[in-house]
Amino acid sequence: MSTFKIGGEIEINRLGFGAMRITGKGVWGEPADREEALRTLKRLPELGVNFIDTADSYGPEVSEQLIRDALFQEAERPYGDILVATKGGLTRPGPNIWHQDGRPEYLMQQVHKSLRNLCVEQIDLWQLHRIDTRVPADEQFGAIRQFLDEGLIRHAGLSEVSVGEIEAARKVFPVATVQNHYNLVNRQHEDVLDYCEAHGIGFIPWYPLAAGDLAQSGGPLDQIARLHKATPSQIALAWMLKRSPVMLPIPGTSKVRHLEENIAAAQIVLSDEEFAALDRAGR
Ligand SMILES: NC(=O)c1ccc[n+]([C@@H]2O[C@H](COP(=O)([O-])OP(=O)(O)OC[C@H]3O[C@@H](n4cnc5c(N)ncnc54)[C@H](OP(=O)(O)O)[C@@H]3O)[C@@H](O)[C@H]2O)c1
Repeated sequence: MSTFKIGGEIEINRLGFGAMRITGKGVWGEPADREEALRTLKRLPELGVNFIDTADSYGPEVSEQLIRDALFQEAERPYGDILVATKGGLTRPGPNIWHQDGRPEYLMQQVHKSLRNLCVEQIDLWQLHRIDTRVPADEQFGAIRQFLDEGLIRHAGLSEVSVGEIEAARKVFPVATVQNHYNLVNRQHEDVLDYCEAHGIGFIPWYPLAAGDLAQSGGPLDQIARLHKATPSQIALAWMLKRSPVMLPIPGTSKVRHLEENIAAAQIVLSDEEFAALDRAGR
């Protein structure tokens, strides 16, 4: 698997895991099958996955706690080679409901909560889930600068942002990653991806499988999937990995079977012609 260095120093395999789907319906509460969720997480290091994306708001707290229950070990590096990235900045009044809260005191509280839930002294990568439109952006960026200075977090990222917002944030702290909605059929953030590539910022596409739609047969991925004896979801992921060396897809699943299928996508090499054909079909 090809690799990327987060913040220029922590090397991870580019195909990671999104841990939003290991919670209950509506990203709320415990998963329907807790044992399978734990098995899925435990399978990650065996498959060479060393990048997990989660958030305080997944569950809330359930996703971080499951990651701890499955993978924490009493050692200098409690997650071994795995980088567990988390996020803060959203509140959860109920299933499928998300509100922004970017007040510095709330962000600080949530960073401490994530530290406790993950049982670590420092979070390797902490991302602002959304820039809260009701709070001056500089106050939120200043809070992140403080988390970095105090050593609570090692690297920081942003989510669902424009190029202008990344540039404004970079005046306050080094932006290690950007996590935006992106996949073969949703290309609204091509300019952000290009900017990230030009500046060595990791680009983490969320909904890499279009929330599962790209895993279904019957679409533009079928023909190329057949040629590679692969599934549509594998081709969607292989296309993303080829799109940019800073692309760090985090397909989400609650099932070992789907995880194994998704991670095998890292072995698929698309030709330039296949890449271009998919690109055209996706647009
Ligand atoms: N920053 C943000 O605002 C934001 C927003 C959304 C998500 N995220 C992050 O991005 C990650 C990925 O997004 P996502 O999980 O929402 O969507 P996704 O990866 O595009 O798709 C996940 C869905 O596809 C299904 N799936 C996965 N692999 C499959 C396979 N091989 N065959 C058939 N179905 C499959 C999963 O169901 P099963 O469980 O049944 O496999 C799940 O319902 C999340 O886990 C989260 O970490 C971030």
